[in-house]
Amino acid sequence: MSTIDVPLKNGGFGSTRRTDNWWIEPLVVFFCYLAFIVYSNWAVFQAKDYHYVGNGADYLSPMYSPMLTEEGPVAASGLTTAPGPAPSFWPRFIPFSPAMLILVFPLAFRFSCYYYRGAYYKAWWLDPVSCAVGEPRKKYLGEKYFPLIVQNLHRYALYFAIIFIALLAYDGWKSLWFTAPGADLDSPRHFGVGLGSLILILNPILLSLYTFGCHSLRHLVGGRKDVMSDNSTRKKCYDCVSGLNKKHMMWAWISMFYVGFVDLYVRMCSSGAWHDLRIL
Ligand code: FES
Repeated sequence: MSTIDVPLKNGGFGSTRRTDNWWIEPLVVFFCYLAFIVYSNWAVFQAKDYHYVGNGADYLSPMYSPMLTEEGPVAASGLTTAPGPAPSFWPRFIPFSPAMLILVFPLAFRFSCYYYRGAYYKAWWLDPVSCAVGEPRKKYLGEKYFPLIVQNLHRYALYFAIIFIALLAYDGWKSLWFTAPGADLDSPRHFGVGLGSLILILNPILLSLYTFGCHSLRHLVGGRKDVMSDNSTRKKCYDCVSGLNKKHMMWAWISMFYVGFVDLYVRMCSSGAWHDLRIL
């Protein structure tokens, strides 16, 4: 068997004997994360235009779902609803956005995801920036000590992520029911399909492809067992999760940016910049 002698530490930070373009991947990951962080922070602090009700539609941005506060009246434009008041427990000196109470759950899930950890440890903490490349720190405490020990909460964040998929699937279902244009929000609805309906429905599907390939779920459905062949249902579930797990990185990126795109679509329709295409 051939071997290769690559020292783990070869001098200072960034020094290596690698001759490939090892720095490209962490650099791309860095900017992709940065783009999402900038957009999602902007969307959170907008605290408006997250619910499109124009043309009888009912599209809610996934960053503001479920609707936690009492909804305000339909705005003069007829395209969106006014944000409701902040809950009584919210400190007055902090600007309120319902998304702040919601995003903590999906963000905790993503932040502690095994794939994301590997990616942002390299791209953001540079620890190490890539395999066989000199590290900026001499001491490594791992995930057995604070603060990284909290990453072990991932399996609990998974339960919340599954609940959110159900909530977003319900939003997709609601997006298929329209009132007559200009009618009151509580008036009877009829079945219809807008481009926004399709966009909202695809969102929980992509999130499912990411979430149901989770390493923690894989362990839960069968990974902790020594023998799986004695239970065919468990074996099928395990194989299914394992199949999704092989593409976990791909679904992680696609589903993350798609959530941002759905928010953008709802926001653009609500502000009148884009017009929702009615298909049925
Ligand atoms: S390991 Fe990525 S979602 Fe659980």
